[in-house]
Amino acid sequence: MTTPTKTQLGSKHPADTPSIIKLTNITFAYPGSENKVLDCLNLDIKSGDRIGMMAPNGSGKTTLLHTIMGLCKPETGGIEVLGTPMETEKDFTRIRSRVGLLFQDSDDQLFCPTVLDDVAFGPLNLGYSRQQAIDTSRKMLKNLGIEEFEQSVTHRLSGGQKRLVALAAVLAMSPAILLLDEPTAGLDVAVKKKLIHILNHLEITYFVISHEFDFLNAVADKVYSMDNGKILTDDEIHIHRHEHIHKHGKHPHVHK
Ligand SMILES: Nc1ncnc2c1ncn2[C@@H]1O[C@H](COP(=O)(O)OP(=O)(O)O)[C@@H](O)[C@H]1O
Ligand SMILES: [Mg+2]
Repeated sequence: MTTPTKTQLGSKHPADTPSIIKLTNITFAYPGSENKVLDCLNLDIKSGDRIGMMAPNGSGKTTLLHTIMGLCKPETGGIEVLGTPMETEKDFTRIRSRVGLLFQDSDDQLFCPTVLDDVAFGPLNLGYSRQQAIDTSRKMLKNLGIEEFEQSVTHRLSGGQKRLVALAAVLAMSPAILLLDEPTAGLDVAVKKKLIHILNHLEITYFVISHEFDFLNAVADKVYSMDNGKILTDDEIHIHRHEHIHKHGKHPHVHK
C-alpha cells in the first residue's frame, strides 16, 4: 500500500478524478476599473464535488461564475471545462449547455411567456424535437414538484417559484455541473427546505454560493471563501456559526 500524498488527502479525491472546471491564474478587472476582482485565482472543481462558497458582498463571487461561463473575459489565465481549454467564444458556446448557471436574479434567466416555454427553451436549443423538449421539461417540473405551474405566466410567479423554475430550466439541459449563485436569497423556509432536498438528491457536481451557514452546511461537503481576488479553500479557512451571549439578548445589534 502506498502512502497518500498531502494533495490527495487534502482534496479527498482519488488522484485520477477528472476536473469539471479548472481555472489557472485567472486575473480579471471590469473595463475601466483598476480593481482586480479576480487576481491570480486558481480553482479546481472535480467530478462529484459539492462545494459551497461563502464570502462578503463584492468579493467577486458572481464575477467568478460569469468568468467560468465566458461572460467575463479574463486578462490572463486559463479556463478548462470538462478537460477542454476554453480559448474562443465558440469553445464557450459549445460547453455552455454542459455548465448550468443559476443566475443570482431569476429574472435574468427567465424570459418566455409560460413556465413550460422557459424550461423547454434549453432542450429545444440543444436540438430536441418539440415533443422531446416538452416531455423533458414536464419531467423536470415534476421532479421539482412544480408541475402545477406548467402553464403559468413566468413573470407573475413569486420569487421562490421563479427560482425553482429557473433551476428546472437549467437541469433540463442535463448539465455536467451546476453553478448556483445565491439560490436561497429571498426564499421562504419551505422553498429553502425543498431546495436542500433537491440538491441532496441530485447526482451532479455543484458549486453553490450562499451567505447562509445552515444551507451550506446541509448541501455542501466543503466550503470555500474568497479574499483579494483569490479562492480560500477549506484547508485555509474555518467557517463557523457565530454564537454568543448578550446581557440584553433580545435587542437587535450589529456585529463589527
Ligand atoms: N458590470 C460591472 N461593472 C463594473 N464593476 C462591476 C460589475 N459587476 C460587478 N462589479 C464590481 O466587481 C466587484 C465584484 O462584484 P461581484 O462579482 O458581483 O461580487 P459578489 O458576487 O461577491 O457580491 C464589486 O466591487 C462590484 O462592484
Ligand atoms: Mg453576487
